[in-house]
Amino acid sequence: MKFSITSAFCFTLSIFLTGAQAKVPVDKQFRVVNEGGYTDHNTIEYNADVRGYQPYNENFRLSFYNTTPNAYTLALRMGDRTKESSLRWVWEANRGSPVKESSTLTFGEDGNLVLAQPDGRLVWQTNTANKGAVGIKIMENGNMVIYDNKGKFLWQSFDSPTDTLLIGQSLKLSGRNKLVSRRSPSVNTNGPYSLVMEDKQLVLYYTTNKTPKPIAYYSYEFYSKITQLQSMTFRTVEDSDTTWVLDLEAVDSGSEFNVSTYISRQKHNATLSFIRLESDGNVRAWSYSTAATSSAWDVTYTAFTNDDPDGYTDGYDECRIPERCMNFGLCKKGQCNACPSDKGLLGWDETCKTPSLASCDPKTFHYFKIEGADSFMTKYNGGSSTTEKACGDKCTRDCKCLGFFYNRKNSNCWLGYELKTLTRTGDSSLVAYVKTPN
Ligand SMILES: *[C@@H]1O[C@H](CO)[C@@H](O)[C@H](O)[C@H]1NC(C)=O
Ligand SMILES: *[C@@H]1O[C@H](CO)[C@@H](O)[C@H](O)[C@H]1NC(C)=O
Repeated sequence: MKFSITSAFCFTLSIFLTGAQAKVPVDKQFRVVNEGGYTDHNTIEYNADVRGYQPYNENFRLSFYNTTPNAYTLALRMGDRTKESSLRWVWEANRGSPVKESSTLTFGEDGNLVLAQPDGRLVWQTNTANKGAVGIKIMENGNMVIYDNKGKFLWQSFDSPTDTLLIGQSLKLSGRNKLVSRRSPSVNTNGPYSLVMEDKQLVLYYTTNKTPKPIAYYSYEFYSKITQLQSMTFRTVEDSDTTWVLDLEAVDSGSEFNVSTYISRQKHNATLSFIRLESDGNVRAWSYSTAATSSAWDVTYTAFTNDDPDGYTDGYDECRIPERCMNFGLCKKGQCNACPSDKGLLGWDETCKTPSLASCDPKTFHYFKIEGADSFMTKYNGGSSTTEKACGDKCTRDCKCLGFFYNRKNSNCWLGYELKTLTRTGDSSLVAYVKTPN
């Protein structure tokens, strides 16, 4: 008797629970199969072929694109929907896990958005099943949201940036605190560069398997002391009738006021802008305005620029990007123009690489020297204070050290586990030494 009362109670409770759960109305549900003709070819970004689906609004649309056959990314693009080829990618669901032809995207009664392979294997989902979702939409600012019947967001694309922040989107201490570049325009896997919001700073890193920790190659400045960054939001502020400022606004737990780092200023409405860590390791801000240029897109900020009329970047040309010269090269004003070698400076091409050593035995190698050469790592990675000779001895004893950098002015020493791009400077107190076999 007791048993049947309990089970009856459970039965009633389960009816009550499922009954209370709002469901997605039929007209808000969808299931699309990623197949058929393309709605667009050879778009300005990644040379992608595109199939546009839903949801969409005036400036954003959820789409599948591929850069190699049969490997699709589900992504949001931004720009005028009637001029498809002018669209740019601002959010993606499945980097590194492309889906095949005839994969499906389903937003069903349960309110979960699910991306699956043609054989049904689940690739990506919003994890919003049976949480009371009643619809999905893209907000005016490009945030794609799944919402309940009170308008509360159960999931939002703004919480999972990959390499891009739209206006209003943030990096968060309590969420995703970094952007990661894609490998190349055509290869959508994680690349070596990341932009990380740390406790007190915003830093660009280069990740390599040759060092236990990523190597910093740039750091953004804030003009006040930071205690603990909580979030950093890309935003635009209209600062007069004619100019709009883009900046990154930071919430710091130690300050009642926000701090910000300036990005750029422009002469048109900048509401449709994004900032992105791109596959080349550079950070750019793009602004969309049909009033701006014929392609409607302006690059309004570049972290590393070779032509710098305003002096904002303070000598940071693209030579400061680790793989600017791919494996190895001597770079000036953004151009890779020499391949350093034991025989002197040779012409640079993509095959330029650091000398390969057969052994760690000091008897089998020596160093060649490049005067006036700097490394991307010297500015943001402490180094140690020692003599030039001791610096060399350290590198000689360290099997993984490929060479070293020395600053004769302040006796600073850096061991190079990656040499990559060296910057040619006019400063002869900076020297680079590279290990080469005897
Ligand atoms: C600080 O920034 C956050 C996020 O951008 C914003 O919500 C908040 O209103 C700002 N606070 C002040 C005092 O401006
Ligand atoms: C700026 O552009 C956005 C998006 O197109 C629009 O909603 C907003 O009203 C514009 N602001 C002004 C002041 O024109």
